[in-house]
Amino acid sequence: MNENWLERWQEGRIGWHEPEGNASLQKYWAVSGKRVLVPLCGKTRDLIWLARRDNEVVGVELSELAVRALFDENDIAYSTVEGALTAYVATDHPITIYCGDYFDFSEGPFDAYYDRGALVAMPANLRGKYVEHTRSLLAPDAAKLIISLEYDESVATGPPFSVPAGEIHSYWPDLERVAAYDDIVNGPPKFREAGLEEMIEVVWRYP
Ligand SMILES: C[S@@+](CC[C@H](N)C(=O)[O-])C[C@H]1O[C@@H](n2cnc3c(N)ncnc32)[C@H](O)[C@@H]1O
Repeated sequence: MNENWLERWQEGRIGWHEPEGNASLQKYWAVSGKRVLVPLCGKTRDLIWLARRDNEVVGVELSELAVRALFDENDIAYSTVEGALTAYVATDHPITIYCGDYFDFSEGPFDAYYDRGALVAMPANLRGKYVEHTRSLLAPDAAKLIISLEYDESVATGPPFSVPAGEIHSYWPDLERVAAYDDIVNGPPKFREAGLEEMIEVVWRYP
């Protein structure tokens, strides 16, 4: 599983990456002054957007290529600190990315959590473990913004995986479904080639 992601980064197969960041984050993120956990962050510019909104941002990412790319492509200087996971600490921005397996990451607590492309990257048999680990890193009342996907998995299969509303609520009962729209045009080409006609991106938020 992890090898697969590292290979994707080596081969540049990162179709999920949004060069302008995520539009729903920019529309629905409502808090500042928080310490924000961003699991499985890739090289998303969302980290920079969150930092500019006066948050301290901590990403966790398996691929060192991705971590270095985030800093290099955005001209952000950094230093590294060795630990269980190597920390890449931005010099002039409140951004740190820990490089390694998220399940080995334990630098909580956080009072906010942003998830795009992380929960939906986990196969069904790992999602419960992923959520439990995330919960262990969050303060009880942490703010949350989670972007999930809903589509017909009998037509196409992930990643990214479809995570139904009932499953989301079983993990995080307090989340409110604040938006949902068809995003098949930005879905993986393999989905459209398989005949999938609709892929709903859903935005969940607390509070
Ligand atoms: C679908 S991408 C989403 C990246 C980012 N959230 C975004 O929106 O662009 C999933 C990312 O999770 C990373 N990843 C997968 N499994 C991981 C794990 N166990 N620990 C840390 N990172 C992981 C992959 O390398 C990949 O960059």
